[in-house]
Amino acid sequence: MKLFACICVVFLLQSILSCGQGLNCDSLPMPKSYVVYFLQNGEKINIDGKLDDNAWQEVSRSHRFIDIQGEALPKPRFDTWVKMRWDSKYLYIGAYLQETDVFANQTKHDSVVFKDNDFEVFTDPDGSTHWYKEFEINAVNTTWDLMLNKPYLNGGFANSSFEMSGLQSAIYVNGPINDPLHKDKYWTVELALPLQSLVTNDSVARAPPKHGDQWRINFSRVEWHVRNVDGHYEKVPGLPEDNWVWSPQYAINMHLPERWGMIQFSADAVNQTKFKRDPNWPVYTSLVAVYNAEKEFFSVEGYFTEDINGLNLPDYVRSGICAQPPNITVIQNYRFTATVQPLTKGLKTGHVQDDRLIWFTS
Ligand SMILES: *[C@@H]1O[C@H](CO)[C@@H](O)[C@H](O)[C@H]1NC(C)=O
Ligand SMILES: *[C@@H]1O[C@H](CO)[C@@H](O)[C@H](O)[C@H]1NC(C)=O
Ligand SMILES: *[C@@H]1O[C@H](CO)[C@@H](O)[C@H](O)[C@H]1NC(C)=O
Ligand SMILES: *[C@@H]1O[C@H](CO)[C@@H](O)[C@H](O)[C@H]1NC(C)=O
Ligand SMILES: *[C@@H]1O[C@H](CO)[C@@H](O)[C@H](O)[C@H]1NC(C)=O
Ligand SMILES: *[C@@H]1O[C@H](CO)[C@@H](O)[C@H](O)[C@H]1NC(C)=O
Ligand SMILES: *[C@@H]1O[C@H](CO)[C@@H](O)[C@H](O)[C@H]1NC(C)=O
Repeated sequence: MKLFACICVVFLLQSILSCGQGLNCDSLPMPKSYVVYFLQNGEKINIDGKLDDNAWQEVSRSHRFIDIQGEALPKPRFDTWVKMRWDSKYLYIGAYLQETDVFANQTKHDSVVFKDNDFEVFTDPDGSTHWYKEFEINAVNTTWDLMLNKPYLNGGFANSSFEMSGLQSAIYVNGPINDPLHKDKYWTVELALPLQSLVTNDSVARAPPKHGDQWRINFSRVEWHVRNVDGHYEKVPGLPEDNWVWSPQYAINMHLPERWGMIQFSADAVNQTKFKRDPNWPVYTSLVAVYNAEKEFFSVEGYFTEDINGLNLPDYVRSGICAQPPNITVIQNYRFTATVQPLTKGLKTGHVQDDRLIWFTS
């Protein structure tokens, strides 16, 4: 009986997805979102690592971080959340990381900070998946800031010479560092990331943003299993690190910017703005689907195709229910550009190409 009910549900879901009946284009799944409020009336955030400023008390926490591979995996051992604010110069980030064993080994700026437990911020303001910025920090305030021209999977180059000039950071640790004999409760990260640095080489995003602007962003936390060896922390051999994120990537890979969360800048009083769904989300999701389907096709056939019927696409993309069907142009078998027109007048036309770049034109 139970099995029968299950099978019915599966068939029902399949038919909803395949014939498009009941598919609501306004509710295509979206990543996590957060409204970031402007600091009002001369309010300030003192970057000392403690999240005790009034500006932090006022705003809500993000959702708790979950495993990078999604909700299906076990809940992280420790709680993690962030808060954000902005002013004309900075995006402020306050992060809380519950932790019993705070340790840090890396002390050199731009060293590989994720060898330690760390907190990481990824920003792709214009949502192009290119020229995104990465920032990592450990519990002794060692930072690594870098820019990638495109994701590693697309042959991207990580440029650590890139510096977020004017960046401020501080850490507070509730308990001792590098002392396995005494348990900690948590550590907090307080950051002022210069908006101007975050939009470097972006073609669309502006700094400072305007009320209503939306940027792509994500956070992650790398957590190693450690043990006490003769009074100092060592990693437990043979165990991989855990990766806990705000918005799940459904893969152990942060470098998939099209899956990051969204923030919306607001100049209203705190809690007075509702997050606005991007009206062009159906076009965006079609572009991402075509990109993934072309890469899958290429991995089997060795070339890209202009024929959307040859691609493993969700039916709502192929049939043009939520946006026009994609129009794909292949150049010499190994390069492609796909264009997706919106159904609604006034929205922009989206484009994606084989190096993952996403852009919009009027
Ligand atoms: C805004 O909402 C959050 C979450 O509900 C709440 O904790 C906070 O006190 C609110 N802030 C103001 C200023 O109302
Ligand atoms: C790396 O970044 C630096 C500093 O922003 C810049 O001068 C340099 O051209 C970049 N290198 C490459 C290969 O893009
Ligand atoms: C932490 O690092 C920032 C640079 O990101 C630096 O300005 C600050 O002085 C450092 N704080 C401490 C206590 O070392
Ligand atoms: C920005 O893009 C240009 C042109 O692609 C490149 O030469 C430059 O190095 C980039 N800037 C940085 C800081 O990498
Ligand atoms: C920290 O560095 C020391 C010295 O290299 C090493 O013995 C120890 O295993 C490291 N601890 C962790 C947790 O990585
Ligand atoms: C954050 O990035 C992770 C890893 O790429 C991804 O699984 C997750 O969906 C992203 N979360 C949000 C809210 O974007
Ligand atoms: C697809 O794009 C090509 C090249 O830009 C254009 O000639 C053609 O009319 C487009 N087809 C559709 C169905 O929009």
